[in-house]
Amino acid sequence: MTEITGRTSIWAILADPIHHVKTPQALNALMRERGVDGVLIPAHVSAEDLPGFIAGLKSMRNFKGFIVTVPHKTAIVDLCDEVSEQARAIGAVNAVRLEADGRLIGEMFDGAGFVAGLRQAGIEPHGRSVYLAGAGGAANAIAFALAEAGVSLLTIANRTRSKSEELKERLAQHFPAVPVEIGTPDPSGHEIVVNATSLGLREGDPLPLDVTRLSADQIVAEIIMQPETTSLLAAGKERGCRTHPGHPMLAGQVEQWADFLGMRP
Ligand code: ATR
Repeated sequence: MTEITGRTSIWAILADPIHHVKTPQALNALMRERGVDGVLIPAHVSAEDLPGFIAGLKSMRNFKGFIVTVPHKTAIVDLCDEVSEQARAIGAVNAVRLEADGRLIGEMFDGAGFVAGLRQAGIEPHGRSVYLAGAGGAANAIAFALAEAGVSLLTIANRTRSKSEELKERLAQHFPAVPVEIGTPDPSGHEIVVNATSLGLREGDPLPLDVTRLSADQIVAEIIMQPETTSLLAAGKERGCRTHPGHPMLAGQVEQWADFLGMRP
């Protein structure tokens, strides 16, 4: 896109907070490369306003779809007319396409993006033991993708224990061969440690796990993109761990998002 005209198609990313998002840069660059007459804008929408905002969007005919992130990934599922079986099992979506007939179709790419990002960095999750902090939308997607990749153990640790237990049950239905446990804040004894909570996004956030239990043989991975070095990654580095930042998860899914959202010339 060189100029916004009356023919330009509009996409958005919905989030609260919004300032940290990197999706506009990533998808606008990709549309330029593909020669798409479109633009993706940041939309700062609160959880409370989400249903009303979505209802209004449906009447905008040059609006083609959106990416959703914190805190909307779970709530948006019920506002979609159709979601894939995988997204339904995960209970969250992060990309929604608006069809010409006004129907909203949702899909979840976080998990595949995270695993693709790990592999791109030469980290193969198959056969490894993984500690996962969080049981929200992103954590659910990552848990499913890690189970699909064939981890040897997945330990889920979340502030709200009932959510970890529900996730464990859903994983058992889809991946009965993968051992899943409910963990504590102590990540020791796992080869890969993943923060899939939203902690680290806001200044002054508590750490998502007990970093004093990290050891140099562990890999510490993040899903938070901004700041690039979260307190968790800094603590991991200090303890000699290999660290894996949040942005590869985004890089791992931009092409998939663009295809799904219909960003074509
Ligand atoms: P996302 O879509 O990014 O995954 P989410 O579904 O709202 O966002 O999930 C946020 C995750 O961060 C959850 O695991 C949440 O824990 P709860 O399930 O207990 O809410 C976790 N989280 C957020 N704030 C937290 C805090 N202050 N302490 C511990 N965990 C927190």
